[in-house]
Order: sequence, then C-alpha cells, then structure tokens
Amino acid sequence: MESYEVKEHDVLVIGAGGAGLRAAIEASAQGVSVGLVCKSLLGKAHTVMAEGGMAASLSNADPRDNWEVHFRDTIRGGKHINNWEMVEIFCQEAAARVSELEEWGALFDRTKEGLIAQRNFGGHRYPRLAHVGDRTGLELLRTLQNHGIHQGFEVYMECCIVELIKENDQVCGAFGFWRESGQFVVFKAKSIVLATGGLGKVYRVTSNSWEGTGDGHALAYRAGAELVDMEFVQFHPTGMVWPPSVKGILVTEGVRGEGGILKNNDGKRFMFEYIPEAFAAETSDSEEEASRWLKGDTEARRPPELLTRDVVAKAIRSERIAGRGSPHGGAFLDIASQRDAEYIKKKLPSMYHQFMKLGNLDITSTPMEVGPTCHYVMGGVLVEPETAMTTVKGLFAAGEVAGGLHGANRLGGNSLTDLLVFGARAGFH
Ligand code: FUM
Repeated sequence: MESYEVKEHDVLVIGAGGAGLRAAIEASAQGVSVGLVCKSLLGKAHTVMAEGGMAASLSNADPRDNWEVHFRDTIRGGKHINNWEMVEIFCQEAAARVSELEEWGALFDRTKEGLIAQRNFGGHRYPRLAHVGDRTGLELLRTLQNHGIHQGFEVYMECCIVELIKENDQVCGAFGFWRESGQFVVFKAKSIVLATGGLGKVYRVTSNSWEGTGDGHALAYRAGAELVDMEFVQFHPTGMVWPPSVKGILVTEGVRGEGGILKNNDGKRFMFEYIPEAFAAETSDSEEEASRWLKGDTEARRPPELLTRDVVAKAIRSERIAGRGSPHGGAFLDIASQRDAEYIKKKLPSMYHQFMKLGNLDITSTPMEVGPTCHYVMGGVLVEPETAMTTVKGLFAAGEVAGGLHGANRLGGNSLTDLLVFGARAGFH
C-alpha cells in the first residue's frame, strides 16, 4: 500500500454490461461526475448472452398483450416469490425502455408493417421479445456504448474492485487493482451502483465467461448489505454439449421460440410428458395442436417446448437419466424439420454460424445436441423497488446482481429489460 492512485467521482458504477452502462448514462444525465469501472474490456459482458430478445408488452405481435399479462407471466414463472413491486415497475416501464433504445439507434427486426417484431419465448403468454436476430444483447450493448460515450462519463477498464469502503455506515468508495500492472487504486464516490452481473462461472458447465464470479454479491455482502433468494440459480435448458471444448455455450431459447422442438434418442418429442398443471390450460398436448400453433393459429395453445426454463431443463435431465438422452448426454433440438433453411439463417444467424464453426453441424438440416447450462442467478442484493438502493446507504444495485425481480426462476428475455429499467432507476437515484 505504499502507493496507490486515487480517482474521484460523484457516482461510481461498477460493471459495464447493460445495467452499468444504463446507470452511467442516467446518472450523467443528472449532471454529476460519473466513473464506470469494469473488470474486462468495455463491451465484454454477459449481457451478450441474452441473445433471443428483450421482453416488453409492446403488443405488436398480439394485441391481447399488455403489462398486466406480462406481470402475471413473470410472477408465475418466478413461482410467486418475486418482489411484486419490482415486477409491477418492470412490466409498466419495459415498453418505454425498449422504445428509448430504438431512439438511441438499436436496429430491431421489423414486422411487415414496420413495427418492432416480437418473438415467442418460454413462459410468455404472447410473442413478447423485441429482438435483433439472435444477437439482441450485443445490439443492446452496442447501442448503450454508442450513446454512452457522448454522455461524458469516465471509463476505467481492466480494473478489478475487491472491497467497498464505508464511512459512518455509508459507502464512500471502492478499492481495487489494475489487472495489467497489479497497481492499487482507490475510487472515492458519494454513491456506488453495483452492476457486476452474476456468478455462473462457479459452475463447470456454464454459459458465463470468466468474469461471472459473483464479485458484486461478495462486495455487497462484505459491506453489510442484505441478499435474497441466493438458492435460486438458473440452468438454461439448451447449452451446447458437444464438442467438449464448447460445452455450456448458449443455444438461444430463440430456437424454440422460432419453432424448434426437443426429441430424445427414440425420436420422441418428449416435452408433452412434462406439462405442469399450472400451465396445462395454455400448453398444447398434441403434436397436431402444436403444429397448428407453428402455422400461426392464435387459438392453438403454445407448444410444450415453450414452458419455463426450469421445467424444460429438468425434463431434459430426466430423459437423460432414463437412458433416452442424446449420445453426449443431452437431447436433440430440431428446428430443421420445422422451418426452412432461409428462415433459420435469417432469424438465427449466430446459431447457424456457431454450430457450423464450433460443431461442424448444419442446423438447417441436422438437429443440435443440447443440455442444461448454468446461465443466471435469480438471487442477489436486496434493493428498494423504486430507487434500486440496497440496505447500505449510498449503495445501489441493478441487473443480475440485484435480487427480487425474478423470484425463483427468471423468464427468458426479462433480463435485458431488467438491465434497462433498473439500471436507469439506479443511475437516476
Ligand atoms: O436464450 C437466450 O437467448 C437467453 C436469453 C435470456 O437469458 O434472457
């Protein structure tokens, strides 16, 4: 500790994924000095792993959608233990945050009428995910970065924060080191926003990259903040299982949203056997009805592949344990039999390239092998719904590091919107 640098800002944002960038933009807009510090390079965040879209009841694809149905779906998906006030704010503000992102330059896929296109995802009653092919998280980050660089905040990259500093029960700074030199640095700040993402890298099979080590959860805990729901970790049903070097890499839920079906090694579409009672009224129980749904019959119930992630992940695991898994311990995800090659390449370009390059497999003609991969932690730092402030004065949290919104199980697509809604609130307050 003989020498260390000192930086000073009114607001320090730790983490530069979607939530951190959105918080930094909003705090800067209030005219204060903002520092944004990230452990990796700007743009290298787990946000990009929300590929299939961001949920908001824009009602472009189905006029029956509205924030209340989104609220119902989110609470039901979360097993009714979500913080309902957070869910209410989230569902009411989602559409405005998506439109704002479009104003800032995000290039969403469009409907024939020129509206933002919305796709189906698990647990969402109606097609609700605004998307950019299967690269939505990437587009969100690109847009926030492009907008953010004009807002005047300072960016500190490759800096690892290891401790929050407090005075009189209030945060007043953070201590860390530069990853390149190992030199220490102290950031003085009047308030701090934690936007450090999740902890999925503690699992061997994971969609998370090396950064996802729960730093923010630990920082908050050691600073005396309360955490909630830490037992709830999400396993996305579809990660790559083969070859071993890429095991865990995400296969977007957008594949199922666009009509992909799951089969076991007997060629059986097994999800019909796993429909929970709570979802029975709106889930197809026959291939015939599911295929009418795929053709656009809005009266047909949704296919069982679009049940919530917990249900689908457990079903794949059960099939494997029963000896009906795919050769490398997963299930077969088949979009080739449901959609033509041109459609697949247009709506799922990254998946097409990912399997071609990493697995030497053409998803327009051959089923993929997929299995559960650790993707997200629902648990996190307890925050006040309105302000995103934690139980420690001056410390705010937004995005995956914050708990409460998603209850016991997050619906796909709700995370990107979460970053925008609560990132903005944390930055503002
Ligand atoms: O499957 C996906 O595209 C992931 C989306 C999400 O986690 O929200």
